[in-house]
Amino acid sequence: MGIFTTLSSVLRFRRFIWNSQERHLATAASINDLRLIAKRRLPAGVFDYIDGAAEDELTLAANSLDFQRITFRPKVLADVATLRTNCSLFGREVRLPIILSPTGFSRIADPAGELAVARAAERAGLPYTLSTMATRSIEEVAGVTSDRARNWFQVYVWRDRELVESLLERARQQRYEAIMLTVDTPVLGRRERDIRRGFTLPPQVGLDTLLEGVRHPGWTLDLIRAEPITFANLVGSGVGDGTSAVSLSHQANSQFDQSLSWNDVRWFRERWTGPIIVKGVQRTDDARRCVDEGVDAIALSNHGGRQLDGAPTPVSLIAPVVAAIDGAIPVFCDGGIRRGSDIAKALALGATAAMIGRAYLFGLGAAGERGVDRAIGMLEEGLTKTMALTGAHDLSELTEDLISSPY
Ligand SMILES: Cc1cc2nc3c(=O)[nH]c(=O)nc-3n(C[C@H](O)[C@H](O)[C@H](O)COP(=O)(O)O)c2cc1C
Repeated sequence: MGIFTTLSSVLRFRRFIWNSQERHLATAASINDLRLIAKRRLPAGVFDYIDGAAEDELTLAANSLDFQRITFRPKVLADVATLRTNCSLFGREVRLPIILSPTGFSRIADPAGELAVARAAERAGLPYTLSTMATRSIEEVAGVTSDRARNWFQVYVWRDRELVESLLERARQQRYEAIMLTVDTPVLGRRERDIRRGFTLPPQVGLDTLLEGVRHPGWTLDLIRAEPITFANLVGSGVGDGTSAVSLSHQANSQFDQSLSWNDVRWFRERWTGPIIVKGVQRTDDARRCVDEGVDAIALSNHGGRQLDGAPTPVSLIAPVVAAIDGAIPVFCDGGIRRGSDIAKALALGATAAMIGRAYLFGLGAAGERGVDRAIGMLEEGLTKTMALTGAHDLSELTEDLISSPY
């Protein structure tokens, strides 16, 4: 009798959650947990496309490791009962210093793809940057978000400048707030996981893919039920819209303009009146040049380690770049951000906001739109907890005084 009473007082069964995505999410405590759930749910080629990076993936690893080299110098007894995480981006308030980076082909992680991410971003009050290589179009994303949404558009510069002009015009028509020029991709980095698997977009069905499809029935059913995946912004443009399978490197290397130069930044300045962000800056002199060219913000980025293996990590560049441009324009930073404390570190070094790529993609791959909500929620909770534990009441108090940093 005694043993049963003891057992019944300690046994607590969790209520069974019938929805499999919700069930998985209930067990996720970190972005890394979302990554592991996505790894189980997605076919290996799709997961590797998202998770992988260039060559030996040294830069991919360094992006995260360099955050770990920074520690905090917390203030105690600082009355942290009230915390404020809001800041201003291009004159408008955002709830958190977080921007969703552009990532192409989101529909391979979840059928709603970019629509799910855009909706989640708006719910959280954050800017979302739609990629040129998205699988939902500029218009579709505008259609599922309200006038208050902060949709930005990422531009890859094609040789066909009329195509680029038409993309800008479509973004303007749909009231996109800013454009983000990605400048670290004159050629595509050598992503060896994709090469080994012969990864194409849309994924081609061979024996391997069939087997993978059977092993991941949820993903496969979603894919079969949805309309075919295309590069939705490029349909009808004649540059390869994804109606037939292409390797990413073939698409990029044959269509992207390798002659891109600072003159082109001027070309964009003449054609886009809203904010222009240059993404992929990796040196202080290039940052200064951005300011001279009238750019509105700099995104320090090595493309999540997917371009030049051996590139400097964005976190190590924040302080030198902010000093070199004397704070003239906002500096954003992406690569390796997996925790709210990483965002706090980036801000303490001088960044205005942090940008996230894989963090939300792992959420999308793990559980669709709810997974993106969860990823953003985890980062928000991590940031506020870090502020409470370091004694920072608002973002302006996240300064170098609160960290010990080798950079
Ligand atoms: C699957 C995937 C697709 C991406 N596609 C694009 C893209 O189309 N355009 C772009 O500028 N950057 C792209 N990026 C880079 C991201 O914008 C961002 O720089 C990077 O993901 C940041 O590193 P993190 O993933 O560690 O946060 C992509 C990254 C990933 C993981």
